[in-house]
Amino acid sequence: MSLDRISHYPVMLEEVKSLIKKPNIIVDSTFGGGGYSKDFLKNFQNCKVIAFDRDKSSETIAEKLTNTNKSRFTFYNSKFSKIEKFIINDLHNVTHFIYDLGVSNYQLKNLDRGFSYQSNSELKMTMGINEITATSLLNERDEKYLARIIKLFGDEKDAKKIARNIILFRKNKRIISSDELKKIILKSKKKYQKKDPYAQTFQALRMVVNQELSEIFYSLKSLMENCSIGTTFIILSFHSLEDKLVKNIFNFFGKSVNQSRYLPQKEKKVNFKIFKKKPMVPKLSEIRLNPSSRSAKLRFIQKTNNHKIFINKSDTKMEEFFDLEEKLYE
Ligand SMILES: C[S@@+](CC[C@H](N)C(=O)[O-])C[C@H]1O[C@@H](n2cnc3c(N)ncnc32)[C@H](O)[C@@H]1O
Repeated sequence: MSLDRISHYPVMLEEVKSLIKKPNIIVDSTFGGGGYSKDFLKNFQNCKVIAFDRDKSSETIAEKLTNTNKSRFTFYNSKFSKIEKFIINDLHNVTHFIYDLGVSNYQLKNLDRGFSYQSNSELKMTMGINEITATSLLNERDEKYLARIIKLFGDEKDAKKIARNIILFRKNKRIISSDELKKIILKSKKKYQKKDPYAQTFQALRMVVNQELSEIFYSLKSLMENCSIGTTFIILSFHSLEDKLVKNIFNFFGKSVNQSRYLPQKEKKVNFKIFKKKPMVPKLSEIRLNPSSRSAKLRFIQKTNNHKIFINKSDTKMEEFFDLEEKLYE
């Protein structure tokens, strides 16, 4: 199934565009099916677009855009944590960085990719440029590690039982397919009230295999620390952990007093401005048209001065998540 043939509505496109003022270079950090890039090239006549996606299959769509917009569009098949390296000479001309996080429809619907539990397929869950698949994670990591990631990334209360049953299953056979994992999950959850008992475990595995939170941290760290005054970051997240991380990073760079009202209010230096405390969400009309947009949260922030401010993992208060993602590759 080709990427062109899967319909994709670029989520909150109108809201994203309303935040793009006087674009020079727009970086589309998550090109996917190219919905945003195509629209930016069409509607912002004089801007350039530099796009990134870790998924090799985005390249075919990108090639078509490169052919029709030779001097205005460039695509790199890379993780977004590495963006700075590719645009080092252009960084100071970038006016907007856009991130539309998560998996694309194509990745979800293409059974060979093994993201979905709606039908039986090999558990891969790799977005692209990965060394480890969900199958190797499930078959090669110890019980404690599996329980911890399923609990933390999936917020799954039966994480320990699921991890135990993964280990028991492995004694006889490697876990290869989504059906095998689904059986293990069902067996571990005595009475599940939720309609969908699988989503949390599948999501936890996907996030860790792709190191999704570390990718966001390292990308924003390098670009927010080094970009120019006026640069705007627009980020759409679809999951509470992603949104929490984006919010905490934005607050670090943009919130001048600490958060807790129980602590003495201490002014700190900031170099970004947060325009809205609450994230923007899709309109009802968009959710009706594209139900998968319903969980989108859009946050944006703009650089306002050149104070040198550097973020560490501990400043996000989500260090344990990064440690677990990094441990997978040790
Ligand atoms: C929701 S889709 C983007 C859809 C796109 N805005 C459009 O309109 O077609 C997210 C895309 O981000 C890519 N992606 C996710 N994490 C990434 C990362 N760390 N680096 C680069 N690309 C990433 C995925 O491969 C996927 O294609």
